Formats: sequence, structure tokens, C-alpha cells
Amino acid sequence: MLVVDNSQALRAQIKQWRKAGETIAFVPTMGNLHSGHLTLMQRAKSSATKVVASIFVNPMQFDNQNDLTNYPRTLQQDSEALLDIGVDMLFTPTPQIMYPKGLDAQTYVEVPGISNILCGGSRGGHFRGVATIVAKFFNLVTPDIAFFGSKDYQQLQIIKLMVEDLSMDIEIVGVATVREENGLAKSSRNGYLTAQELNIAPLLYKTMQQVVDSIGRGESIASALEWGVNALNDGAFTVDYLQIKNAKDLSDVTDSDDELVIVAAAFLGSARLIDNMVFSR
Ligand code: PAF
Repeated sequence: MLVVDNSQALRAQIKQWRKAGETIAFVPTMGNLHSGHLTLMQRAKSSATKVVASIFVNPMQFDNQNDLTNYPRTLQQDSEALLDIGVDMLFTPTPQIMYPKGLDAQTYVEVPGISNILCGGSRGGHFRGVATIVAKFFNLVTPDIAFFGSKDYQQLQIIKLMVEDLSMDIEIVGVATVREENGLAKSSRNGYLTAQELNIAPLLYKTMQQVVDSIGRGESIASALEWGVNALNDGAFTVDYLQIKNAKDLSDVTDSDDELVIVAAAFLGSARLIDNMVFSR
């Protein structure tokens, strides 16, 4: 596996592969890889002749300096996992390489509307940071196809919209969330949970399931959500949001919408966990 930390080396390799007629799949990550990420890599491997992964803890998408500083960085272990799985090139730039003029002077990409609700409402500028770094990576890697986890449901929809709005010729694939046996979505942030919190954490998924089931039995969305928020808060979570939205664009639900998504963000100890479930009614 080729490991490159600068744009020139990355572009030179991509150029060679393109000349040789290779197709390119891309998986951007912030590292601290778990089996959810490795599933993305496997999907990438079966969809193109070359796979590029990136590991970059993107400062532009953090609204909290402590969160950025404490984000787990496990490059050695991550590189070994990527090598084992057969990734062809790993891009590991520094913030200086990605943002040489600094964050404030950087041109940015922002998908309007959808970026300022849910996680974007709680984490100011987060999705501007995500869209900007993903657009930069797309321009460098020029992938045919790129893979993202569906756990970050809002992020996935924002990237799909960005690609459509900016006429990028890249297929965006959302891959199903990988879960522990108890339902907890795999996440780098689960590493912040104590043993006791790890026992409580599956309540997030269980509560979403119960809310969806009760709507299926005819309960109103508002009362099912109210029950869900109370169940989580009583179970040691502090709910940031628990909402049901139109699954396609995360707009508010209207009577004619039948593809819906329940989206949740809640604090458990020092971890902010997110999850979602798409359902029909
Ligand atoms: O989902 C992530 O890990 C990040 O938001 C991403 C897409 C790699 C951009 O930094």
C-alpha cells in the first residue's frame, strides 16, 4: 500500500492509474478505524480496480477545540488494517497541506438549508467543514465512486446534494450501519464510553425501534417522539434531538411522505452518539 501525505504524490499516482485504465473507489475517514470503516473499504474494493482511503482529522468540521484535540488518532493500527484489506493508496495529509492559508482564509462549500438543522444546528459550521474537505478530496482523488457510512445519515444526504449541485461525476454510495450484537452502532466515539455507559448505550437504538414500532401501530409521531425522548433521558442519556424527517432531504414530514427516517443525537457521559433508522409508513 502506497502511503502519501501530499497532494503532488497523490495526483501523480492517480494520473498513472488513469492512464492504465484503472477505476478508482474512494473512502474518506478520520481514522480510528472500526469494522464499519472496513466494510466501506471492502465495498470499495469490489467496485473498482483501485481503492484510495484517506485519514484526516479535519479541523474545519470541529466546533470544539477539546473535541478536536482528543479525537482518537491511531494511524499505525489503521494503516495495518488498510494494508490487510488490500487498500491501494492511503492519503494522510496534515492540516497545513489541506488548508495552507489557514481555516479562516479557506474557500468553502456549504449545502444550504439541510446543513443547519439537526447536527448542523447543534454543531455550528460542522457540515461546511465536511462538505469543504470532501469536495477537496474529490478534486484530488477524482474517484468514480465514493463510500460513506449511513450512520452519519445527514452527512450522507449533504454529500449527495453537493455532488448533484456541483455536477460532480461521482457515484455516492451509502453503506448500512454496522452494529454490535446489542444494536449499538459502531463508532469511533464509542471509545469514549465507560464500561457502565457501554451497557446503557444500546438504549439509543432500542428506543428508536420502539418509537418506529409504535408509529406503525398508529401512534402519532409527536407522542411517540415525546415518549422516546423521556425514555432516553430517564436512561442516563441527555437528548440533543430525536426527530422524524423525510428520508430523502430531511425536510419536515408532510402527510404525503411515506419514506421517513428517525434521527437521534444524544450525550452519554462525554460521548455524543448519533444514530438513525429509515422506515416506511
Ligand atoms: O465521516 C467522517 O469520518 C468525516 O466526516 C469525513 C467524511 C471523513 C470528512 O472529514
